[in-house]
Amino acid sequence: MSFPVDVVVMAAGKGTRMKSQRPKVLHRLGGRALAQHVIDCAARLSARRVVVITGHGAEQVEAGLAAPAATALSFVRQEPQLGTGHAVQQAVPVLQDDGVTLVLSGDVPLTQAATLQALLDVCAGQHLALLTLDMPDPTGYGRIVRGDGGEVCAIVEHKDASEAQRAIREIYSGIMAVPTRLLRAWLARLDNRNAQGEYYLTDVVKFAVADGLAVHAHRITDAVQVAGVNSPAQLAELERAYQRRRADELLVQGVRLADPARFDVRGELVCGQDVEIDVNCVFEGSVQLGDGVRVGAHCVIANAVIEAGAVIHPFTHIEGEKAGVKVGAGALIGPFARLRPGADLGPEVHIGNFVEVKNSTLAAGAKANHLAYLGDAIVGERVNYGAGSITANYDGANKHRTVIEADVHVGSNCVLVAPVTIGAGGTVGAGSTITKDTAPGALSVARGKQVSIANWQRPVKQKKA
Ligand code: UD1
Ligand code: CA
Repeated sequence: MSFPVDVVVMAAGKGTRMKSQRPKVLHRLGGRALAQHVIDCAARLSARRVVVITGHGAEQVEAGLAAPAATALSFVRQEPQLGTGHAVQQAVPVLQDDGVTLVLSGDVPLTQAATLQALLDVCAGQHLALLTLDMPDPTGYGRIVRGDGGEVCAIVEHKDASEAQRAIREIYSGIMAVPTRLLRAWLARLDNRNAQGEYYLTDVVKFAVADGLAVHAHRITDAVQVAGVNSPAQLAELERAYQRRRADELLVQGVRLADPARFDVRGELVCGQDVEIDVNCVFEGSVQLGDGVRVGAHCVIANAVIEAGAVIHPFTHIEGEKAGVKVGAGALIGPFARLRPGADLGPEVHIGNFVEVKNSTLAAGAKANHLAYLGDAIVGERVNYGAGSITANYDGANKHRTVIEADVHVGSNCVLVAPVTIGAGGTVGAGSTITKDTAPGALSVARGKQVSIANWQRPVKQKKA
């Protein structure tokens, strides 16, 4: 059975309880806007089109959401916001009668594509299908009212419900699948004579029953999948649920997380075999960890490729942004290292504590172990870059390159003023400020010569008169 699916995402509401300037559906969960989760999930169903209903902060919301590959994403404004039925009415003109409309909410981020597919299967292109769930505390939700034979008769909103109806624990999740031609006709019949004076989408159930059509409920048990975000507390709770799921997926793959409750992925994390991740690490953007990589506690790693066997010691910050960071096989990084965009480290490179590397290539076996800065540099194989040494890469207007050829030894506390090249195998004496290129194999010392005066008497403190 196959029919076209058009998705409508309701995202016009205000989200007052977030107490934020930012529209609710743009608040982030796992590093992605709430409504983006919903759109990305719709894309996995191969929806023909995804229509997002915007209202509050419409311009921001429209600018803040992106179409996944091969998905036609469009926006329709709802102004003013007169209820969920009124919201879907705004989308109806762009929907086609040959398909099924799947209605989702922009503030319900963790529904799984498989659950929505199951709902679409229940709809089968011809029935009204509702996603429902039993809740221990159904306060605030629309209740599923069933007849004697268990058939669904209506959804009654909490504020409109009788005491008896409020005792019903089966609630409407806010998600339905409905043949578009039926939806179109039913929405035209909506009114707002109810406790909230709103046009309720949920009234379509009433119309279906009146028209003699069966209403099917697809009842699930996983509350996280239909949980909405209305407050910072709920956002934080769903964030943990989301992270726990990501952690469990990695554990199943064999990744050894020291504590799945102290672990955050805000993007894509791809791990090889025998990867170990200690507590309180954060992964952002796109991160790949090769076989046998170990990440120490309290590391933040964003947009980076860490090759097999590399060890990232605790408190290391890696941020690749657009240029990316690459850490070669068997490299040792940190503790307390900082790798910035364009850091490209070869195999067995060592970057130690309080060393910053930006837009620099380090060839195999190069080492910068303590308190150093390498910016806009090309560093050859086996170079040893001393403690406290820096590349002076910026003249106040432009950035310049430093080239340190293979097997160079740079002593401690040197300044290499770019543009400058240190020839292969050369040595730079500690404390030197190098402004001119040096020849291969040369020792270069550029500092005041040491003067020692024998038996030097230090001044003594004068006595007060
Ligand atoms: C809705 C359902 C309720 C269900 C609950 C599940 C209705 C009438 N009620 O109630 O049965 O149990 O969801 O969470 O549908 N929105 C608009 N425009 C509007 C109003 C709302 O776009 O005019 C959007 C909101 O931004 C939100 C979604 O629709 O994303 C749901 O709206 P909300 O006000 O949260 O509906 P509930 O009252 O919770
Ligand atoms: Ca709600």
